[in-house]
Amino acid sequence: MNKEYKRTLITSALPYANGPVHIGHLAGVYVPADIYARYKRLNGEEVLFIGGSDEHGVPITIKAKAEGVTPQDIVDRYHNIIKDSFEQLGITFDVYGRTTSETHRKTASDFFRKLYEKGEFIEKTSEQLYDAEANQFLADRYVTGTCPHCGNEHAYGDQCEVCGTSLNATDLINPRSAITGNTPILKETSHWYLPLDKWEPRLRQWILEDHKEWRSNVYGQCKSWLDMGLQPRAVSRDLDWGIPVPVEGAEGKVLYVWFDAPIGYISNTIDCVGDDWEKWWKDSDTRMIHFIGKDNIVFHCIVFPAMLMADGTYNLPDNVPANEFLNLEDNKISTSRNYAVWLHEYLQELPGRQDELRYVLTANAPETKDNNFTWGDFQQRVNSELVAILGNFINRAVVLTHKYFDGTVPAAGALEEVDKKLIDEFATLKQEMTAQLEEFKFRDALRTAMDMARAGNKYLQETEPWKVAKTDMERTATILNIALQASANLAIAFEPFLPFMSARLIKMLGMGDITWSMLGNFDLLQAGGHIGKAELLFEKVEDETVLFQQEKLRKTVEENKLAAWKPEAVKENVEYDDFAKLDIRVGKVLECINVPKSKKLLQFKIDDGMGGRTILSGIAAYYKPEDLIGKEVCFIANFPPRKMMGRESMGMILSAVNADGSLTVIGPQGEVRPGATVG
Ligand code: 2FM
Ligand code: ZN
Repeated sequence: MNKEYKRTLITSALPYANGPVHIGHLAGVYVPADIYARYKRLNGEEVLFIGGSDEHGVPITIKAKAEGVTPQDIVDRYHNIIKDSFEQLGITFDVYGRTTSETHRKTASDFFRKLYEKGEFIEKTSEQLYDAEANQFLADRYVTGTCPHCGNEHAYGDQCEVCGTSLNATDLINPRSAITGNTPILKETSHWYLPLDKWEPRLRQWILEDHKEWRSNVYGQCKSWLDMGLQPRAVSRDLDWGIPVPVEGAEGKVLYVWFDAPIGYISNTIDCVGDDWEKWWKDSDTRMIHFIGKDNIVFHCIVFPAMLMADGTYNLPDNVPANEFLNLEDNKISTSRNYAVWLHEYLQELPGRQDELRYVLTANAPETKDNNFTWGDFQQRVNSELVAILGNFINRAVVLTHKYFDGTVPAAGALEEVDKKLIDEFATLKQEMTAQLEEFKFRDALRTAMDMARAGNKYLQETEPWKVAKTDMERTATILNIALQASANLAIAFEPFLPFMSARLIKMLGMGDITWSMLGNFDLLQAGGHIGKAELLFEKVEDETVLFQQEKLRKTVEENKLAAWKPEAVKENVEYDDFAKLDIRVGKVLECINVPKSKKLLQFKIDDGMGGRTILSGIAAYYKPEDLIGKEVCFIANFPPRKMMGRESMGMILSAVNADGSLTVIGPQGEVRPGATVG
């Protein structure tokens, strides 16, 4: 930021309303955006924080088709779940709109029409991918194939999520329809294209020269696209879900979702502030910041700015602090595979623990590289940081004040070196934290806030008011005054990160309204004022909570494996003579025991019609020995003897491998004499 602005417009990516939001969305976009909005408001700045659901596009229609309901049903369901859960997490949007609203239809249509009338589009007929069986053109997520840039085999028709490149569906190598799995044919259709190449010189200047301060991941991605050269992008689609293209001769065509969605930021501003909206979008004193995930960089740094340039009356974003991705227990989070920690479920399963989630997602935010969320780390950070450092310091300050001064804020006497040191440290940390927040370094800023709490604990350790109180109540008063003032400072420092804790602390200490400028002040609480009883601000996360959540994820992985199971490919052909070399027989189980000290092995005594034999088999995990006694099984009789756990096995019992990897013993369907051959 090189100039002084009067106000900040903060936008956060509009999540697709095709599922609830999960911790990946939160860590990538909404928690950092909310921290920033809260900090700016505390700092007395004029802020508008825009959110909303993205309700068009192929992700919605695919979900609707899978469930046999209408796209409108899907977006109504998820918009409400998403909106409620954001609210409960304390995300302070000034507006949370939706792109199926009438305001949005009108705003997006007007935007398109203006560009159309200005001659900013190229209308072009070309051959596009078409699924002849589904009778549908295949664009965006309706088609997958190999990315021509990085070789990712699951790239979408409009973007490769691995290398971030924006694609045209016809760029894909080996395209496949996501509807039928068929290889698409080519069919002619006409569309409107935004000539990104026209804006390339301005985009280069604006990003590469004027915004060298952008995060290196964002700047680097933009540079590599600009260096590859920009192509015209189609902004319409042959689909039946979306905003109709508002010009004549466009029947059956809708706006491309990535054309309409960012205009949603404008529509939601209009819904929020009415006629005043232009001040937020066109006044050069307004600064616009887009919070997004890394898969959205191309749309927010190239496509949407080119749209705004083509209009000619809008501001461009001043910064686009995109985060990388969050993984979950070392696996990719996935909406379609239901592998996620869903916000609405978290809120139900861990009620009252919103701040804990906000804390862990910020402390471990994927700001510069992909990061990993684990429930073990969640527990560890809550217990050893929030409970043991922050909660502990405040609790000690409040409890000791009640013990020695009956809950009255004691007056400070002359300050000693140790007191001044703490006050100075808070002032230094405030400066650091302010700079970190301004630079979108929220992880660092949170660590700095935590350093304030650490300094508070150290102060109590050094001053030991519980000992001093035995001899010197005046000094004890000073120490506890300082500790309480430090606690009041923490209510301010943590408000952007842990707003629920902060509100409780403000109440506990009897503070009024807070502002960022009060941070660093050690005169926040009046001597003689009363404070409330100590309440625990954080509680430990128990092992059983962690185990429950880990088990839930494990079950999802298991279910996904079962759902994805396919029979193995048939092996190469063999001659009958090869098969005939195997001597497969039927046998009857006479005895069956667990092999001592082995979890895997069962030992069988088999009646093979030839005097009997012992066979060991690794199926102990799937059977109780007694359940197999008397059963008929098939076994290979001519394997050479093999030693297992010191015992000799004379053959192999045949089993089928189930989808989950478990084994089921196979035997004849009817009575067969032991020793009979199988072939
Ligand atoms: O990636 C997504 O989830 C998109 N729905 C984000 C849209 S951001 C904005 F442009 F609306
Ligand atoms: Zn790629």
